[in-house]
Amino acid sequence: MPPVSSSLPFFDAVVIGAGAAGLFCAAQAGQRGLRVLLIDHATQVAEKIRISGGGRCNFTNRDLDVRAPQRHYVGQNPQFARSALSRFTPQDFIALVDKHGIGHHEKHKGQLFCDRSAEDIIAMLLAECATGHVQHWQPCSVKNVAFSPSSADRESAGSYQIDTDRGPVAARSLVIATGGLSIPKIGASDLGYRLARQFGLPLVAQRPGLVPLTFSGDAWAPYAQLAGLALPVEISTGVKKERMAFHEDLLFTHRGLSGPAVLQISSYWQPGQPLSIDLAPGVDLPAALLQAKARSRKLIANELAALVPSRLADAWAAQEAQWQRPINEASDKALHLLAERLARWQLVPTGTEGYKKAEVTLGGVDTRALSQQTMEAKAQPGLYCIGEVVDITGWLGGYNFQWAWASAHACAQAL
Ligand code: FDA
Repeated sequence: MPPVSSSLPFFDAVVIGAGAAGLFCAAQAGQRGLRVLLIDHATQVAEKIRISGGGRCNFTNRDLDVRAPQRHYVGQNPQFARSALSRFTPQDFIALVDKHGIGHHEKHKGQLFCDRSAEDIIAMLLAECATGHVQHWQPCSVKNVAFSPSSADRESAGSYQIDTDRGPVAARSLVIATGGLSIPKIGASDLGYRLARQFGLPLVAQRPGLVPLTFSGDAWAPYAQLAGLALPVEISTGVKKERMAFHEDLLFTHRGLSGPAVLQISSYWQPGQPLSIDLAPGVDLPAALLQAKARSRKLIANELAALVPSRLADAWAAQEAQWQRPINEASDKALHLLAERLARWQLVPTGTEGYKKAEVTLGGVDTRALSQQTMEAKAQPGLYCIGEVVDITGWLGGYNFQWAWASAHACAQAL
């Protein structure tokens, strides 16, 4: 590796990626008095914040239990996130949002959204960067990164030379905040993973998370007509200790299933595994159908429509000849079978909608290679990884941004 030239513009830290984690880290480090350069190749800053939460940015979640990150985070070792999450909590971020006068409200299960627009969060982060005198090069591409272990003219363990299309710079620390692979059309790239590999950091295989699931072939044909239908369900995958379940809304689409229930379970679903869906959670279907049988001569589908959405009732009753008759003529066995099929709908997705539709990327830089206090690579001084590039993935509901803020904060205090 060639030595880092002493004539280059020198920064205490170069942060690659001006998304949620990178902006927050740069701002905090700058406000500590460090000279910080923030680089991003996209034309616009923080595109994911802009499109998040339907344009209102679900920026954190009040229900986060910082002592038990495994409740809301996925990865090979979710406990890794505990240190950072407990040192920069949802309340800390809410205090910052309040300081900037940004109106917000709670929507569902602790999820906090901006009253007005996600642009308010971006403006806040840019203002924080300005307070920290952060230099911001955007759009700017990184061509190459090199590390020089010893540098005679600097009192540090080494320095990084970052070659960009605006020229080379040098830095004592390099922060990888390049996010994941989801939504490539707004700037996602694999640079973070490539840099991690270059410096010997192990990676956990990446795959789309918080993503709609797809089904194909004849098996899906009866359900394609339900596209657009949404209903509350219990969805689960895995068995025994590995079982994971969510009570959320499910949405039928033309190609498969989406909605919060499916996005959440997608982060736990393994290819080839079945999903189990209770389409009428909290309803005692066998009892309700048998009671209806005792008092009604209506078609089964019509009686079922009092218990689940009518389009669903029609589609289910159409599946078997024994369910296409007046309910008083149906056998108890047929009604039990119908109840069972609705309460335990078993299906195996053929795949996911992929990174084009995924909200996050599962996997990433292996947490075993990083310090949980500082996010610095254990074997590579001055190299830090924060945000989604790390193998920590949150549930839907503001948990991913909270990880971005918290990991950025932990890193910024250590730079
Ligand atoms: P982030 O993706 O924010 O930033 C990475 C930055 O690195 C980008 O600006 C990118 O341009 C830059 N970059 C990438 N490659 C580069 C390269 N080669 N050179 C230079 N720069 C490069 N989460 C949540 O908590 N609440 C929510 O409401 C939502 N909503 C939501 C909606 C949608 C549609 C998506 C896709 C995602 C969400 N998320 C979310 C997830 C959340 O957006 C995500 O987890 C965070 O933005 C991750 O923050 P990072 O800073 O790690 O990556």
